[in-house]
Amino acid sequence: MRLLQLKAENFRLIRTLSLHPHGRLNVIFGANAAGKTSLLEILYVLGRGRSFRGASPQEWEGPDRPGWLVFGRVEHPLSALRQSLGLRFAGEQTEIRVDGRAATSLDLLRTLPVQILEPGMHKMLQEGPVYRRSFLDWGVFHVEPQFLPLWRRYRRALRQRNQLLRAGADDRQIAAWEPELAEAGEQLDAQRCAHLDAIRPAVLAGIEVLIGEGEWHFDLYPGWTRTMALREVLARQRTADRRLGSTQAGPHRAELRIRAGGHRAKNRISRGQQKMLIAALLLAQCTEIGRRTGRHPVLLIDDFTAELAEPYQAALLAAIQAYPGQTFITAFTRSGVLARELDAAVFHVEHGVVTSSAD
Ligand SMILES: Nc1ncnc2c1ncn2[C@@H]1O[C@H](COP(=O)(O)OP(=O)(O)OP(=O)(O)O)[C@@H](O)[C@H]1O
Ligand SMILES: [Mg+2]
Repeated sequence: MRLLQLKAENFRLIRTLSLHPHGRLNVIFGANAAGKTSLLEILYVLGRGRSFRGASPQEWEGPDRPGWLVFGRVEHPLSALRQSLGLRFAGEQTEIRVDGRAATSLDLLRTLPVQILEPGMHKMLQEGPVYRRSFLDWGVFHVEPQFLPLWRRYRRALRQRNQLLRAGADDRQIAAWEPELAEAGEQLDAQRCAHLDAIRPAVLAGIEVLIGEGEWHFDLYPGWTRTMALREVLARQRTADRRLGSTQAGPHRAELRIRAGGHRAKNRISRGQQKMLIAALLLAQCTEIGRRTGRHPVLLIDDFTAELAEPYQAALLAAIQAYPGQTFITAFTRSGVLARELDAAVFHVEHGVVTSSAD
């Protein structure tokens, strides 16, 4: 998806914003606290209806109270279909519109896929399985139309079984939900595996270019022992689940295992390598989404140069330039590899005011 125009009002320190981005690379320079991350946040909110900084819509409100506004015009690269997306917060709730009609965050998600590489993404390697599952599921959501209905079916059956476990219901009542849980669960697992298999070659190729040679493994533990059918596992674990008050097996317990040279990646690679690994994962996934749907996600990279010396910066920049989708990257100054002549739109942010170098 390509963003043709972006507007915002009173979003954090950005009082008013209007820009026409480049179809591929956009570079945003600015000092600390200038508003770079806020600008990426506006783009992210436009595609997801929420922020990667975890803050609530009230906190995005700038000094010109009440409310804030975010608007974008996007173009489907294959069909040239144009759509407008808008969010408005007027002090109580956020109103979302797609092509002028009332819409939901899910409509935004479907219309404008956006992904971000920012310092918080290190959680994907450093913290629990939920971060790696959500990485994988975001990709499956975009390539597999049946993912969301299946996931809802699964959550519903899981909730019902868990309630019965906690209420001390008898075996027959609990078992009644297991065929549904197992069927939806195994299909979810199959979709995740298919997506991981689809992106793995590009992830490995990306790592070789971005980090160098090494032995890497990406495997999905489904959330139960694969040698047994999920339905059988659920029946066997019923007594233990009753004791714990929740279902212990199933795709809600899945884990994407990342191993470098036979060890868990998080214990083995440097901070800069972690950033490059996450970049390889995101680029491979976004490329796959583009290949399958014809709509490459907009990729945001905050603090592009942070944690990276020049060879890594050069490799990452080359990978971004090879990505067919639109990208936005931020940095403090036009130095290092960003000092080169780039086929890009360049913007500067100062105290929340964004200007284009071409102006
Ligand atoms: N709701 C708000 N209203 C007004 N200003 C805000 C609001 N929320 C945050 N700010 C201010 O916006 C400023 C810019 O934040 P932002 O994170 O976008 O800067 P940045 O350019 O990414 O800086 P850095 O390079 O240090 O990451 C901060 O000084 C912050 O205090
Ligand atoms: Mg920032």
